[in-house]
Amino acid sequence: MLTIAQITDLHITSDKDPLNKARNEERLRKVLKAIHERKPRPVAIIASGDLVDRGEPEEYVEFKKIVDEVEIPLYLGLGNHDLRAPFRAAFPGTPVDKYGFVQYAADLGGVRLVMLDTLEEGSNDAGFCRKRAAVLKRLLRQDKRTPTIVALHHPPIISGIQWMDPPPDADWIKRLAKTIKGRAQIRTLICGHVHRAYHGMLAGQQVAVSPATSIQLTLNLTPVDVRVPDGREILVDEPPGYTLLMWDKERFITHVCVAGDFAPAVTYDFPFVKD
Ligand SMILES: [Fe+2]
Ligand SMILES: [Fe+2]
Repeated sequence: MLTIAQITDLHITSDKDPLNKARNEERLRKVLKAIHERKPRPVAIIASGDLVDRGEPEEYVEFKKIVDEVEIPLYLGLGNHDLRAPFRAAFPGTPVDKYGFVQYAADLGGVRLVMLDTLEEGSNDAGFCRKRAAVLKRLLRQDKRTPTIVALHHPPIISGIQWMDPPPDADWIKRLAKTIKGRAQIRTLICGHVHRAYHGMLAGQQVAVSPATSIQLTLNLTPVDVRVPDGREILVDEPPGYTLLMWDKERFITHVCVAGDFAPAVTYDFPFVKD
């Protein structure tokens, strides 16, 4: 059974922000411990952006210290809290496309990863321009058979949490939809950014959004005026989470996991089936 873990929205900080540094690092370490202890051990970890909180070089240094301890191949992608230049300085081995976007394909051993870069520096919104779409097309043309995971930070479907959602008819979503439509090798898109798990479809493809390793977003589906604060809770201290993708040779089964030390509620002490 082949499994792959996805982590997202790590928001690692430096000593400039000690509170978030301690909390987000502790939460990421809990998730990494849980992933390493999984049986079977996942063959890869995909990190889908917001690796650090402000895109600062010191933050990538802190992040690198943590991931240097990871024993599983790790594939990095960028989110709106990242910046390309300091990321590339800290991780010069991560491939970039000819335009400088962190977009690449990787063989995970029977399944394939295509990493996309939706970072629009200076904005929290996604970008997926013609150049990036052309790179995606080329990567998909290179291998039309191997089951493929497409990873991107910003979900191209809405969550219903209005202040986080893109307009469903945003140009970048239309461009992405057109590019992935009918590509039979794509078996799932995986995303982060919303700090909460939800699933949907885009252009006939499965889209799975992972919870964050850092804090989660409150699930509040009531209307919000983005110009008038109303005191609502927007982030909540729910446990750190990650996603486990299980390849059953036909499809990806998506397990949304929380990490922590939970006591067993019931144990297997009697046969499930009696002869
Ligand atoms: Fe985030
Ligand atoms: Fe984000």
